[in-house]
Amino acid sequence: MKILGIETSCDETSVAVIEGKGKLENPSFEILSNIVLSQIKIHKKWGGVVPMVAKREHSKNLINILEKSLRKSSFLISKSEFLISKQIQNSKLRIINKILEREPELLERFLKFIPTIKPPKIDAIAVTIGPGLEPALWVGINFAKALAFVWDKPIVAVNHMEGHMAAILLQNGRISNFQFPISKQITKSNFKNKKQIQFPALALLVSGGHTELVLIKKWGDYEIIGETRDDAAGECFDKTARMLELPYPGGPQIAKQAENFKKYPLTFRMGGWTAPDMPNSSRGGRARREMEKEAFNIKLPRPMIDSKDYDFSFSGLKTAVLYMLRDMKERHINIGDFTPMICNEIQQAIVDVLITKTIKATKEFGAQSIILGGGVAANKELRAQMKKAVGMSRRDLDIRRQTTALYLPSTKLTTDNAAMIGAAGYLRATSKDFTRPDKLVAQGNLGL
Ligand code: KG4
Ligand code: ZN
Repeated sequence: MKILGIETSCDETSVAVIEGKGKLENPSFEILSNIVLSQIKIHKKWGGVVPMVAKREHSKNLINILEKSLRKSSFLISKSEFLISKQIQNSKLRIINKILEREPELLERFLKFIPTIKPPKIDAIAVTIGPGLEPALWVGINFAKALAFVWDKPIVAVNHMEGHMAAILLQNGRISNFQFPISKQITKSNFKNKKQIQFPALALLVSGGHTELVLIKKWGDYEIIGETRDDAAGECFDKTARMLELPYPGGPQIAKQAENFKKYPLTFRMGGWTAPDMPNSSRGGRARREMEKEAFNIKLPRPMIDSKDYDFSFSGLKTAVLYMLRDMKERHINIGDFTPMICNEIQQAIVDVLITKTIKATKEFGAQSIILGGGVAANKELRAQMKKAVGMSRRDLDIRRQTTALYLPSTKLTTDNAAMIGAAGYLRATSKDFTRPDKLVAQGNLGL
């Protein structure tokens, strides 16, 4: 079954074509195309995503992204002039005008492009209906409706978070038992070497809007066992980065600064002095160690790390950073000198909480697989330290004499993309779980 996926829930405009095979218990996929256009540069100047700007950008770019996606997957077949003139009759035109009346830019481009191509040989259209920014979601939904109407295809309504979980299915090699190096990037999967995900599985979904631990009994059967009570992990990265005057999105920025700190820890602990410039550095080891002891050090809280449940709370961490920076300013400390060190501690605090809760839940629920998903799952430290933690806990985790496997999607698949929406769409399409176009509604707070 071939599915066209559409994703517009936040600041990525994406259209993909994927092919799914097999039953719900053991599906396999091939990505035929997965075109993603990021709006980061546009939102950067506002310091975060502006919903109405995101909506307009999706509206402007969807046709272009669709064209690229169809071309890449070899589904783009142009029509002859004769056919083009006959393609959209007046009655159909009225309906398309109605469907896309709130997206004039998309409507204009739609009417110019769609009549020039033949309907692609896809079986269904999968579109994100939530959670996300409603104005942005509506563009994708209306686009899906208009395409479904002219091409006469069924629509699958997809939950964005199910998409983040299904992303791992697009990458048919599993990363477990340390068989694969963590950095192995598998962008184009194939049907060979498929390893089946064992259930129950536990998904740690960490993005800009969500932090959830989801118990997957089987595909389509989910239970949220813990979630954030306030800010999401990605939101915490973004907001603390902003306090440190780092650009949006904050996650990759904080990660970069933290990496710097890890390379030269002493330098940043001493407030930006490089080793040769350090006073008395010529006195050698002991003087250096003394200075290191006295040097500025920071420790941030790990909110709810020992709580009995699996919930998270990252707003306390954000506030702790705010107070710490205020205190540093009052003491006339140049924050810029310590930014890498502060970033390292922010990242480590988030990683510690995420890993501790995931391992605890894995033990309690006897999870056979751990799946990471969402934008924050691109974080190198989270990936490396999770791998280590699963390795160290392997004996404890070996509850059913089966090794708990850790599945880390490639970073291309952890950030928002339409291939994952196509994969989640396939899981529903296998049971003909289609939605009537007039029933499609954007749901900003849609739960799993
Ligand atoms: O899943 P996603 O692309 O969009 C949402 O659905 O929210 O996640 C975006 C989030 C942002 O908060 C961004 O700062 C964070 O993922 N992020 C990272 C990294 N890359 C992206 N956080 C930490 N480390 C990264 N390398
Ligand atoms: Zn997302």
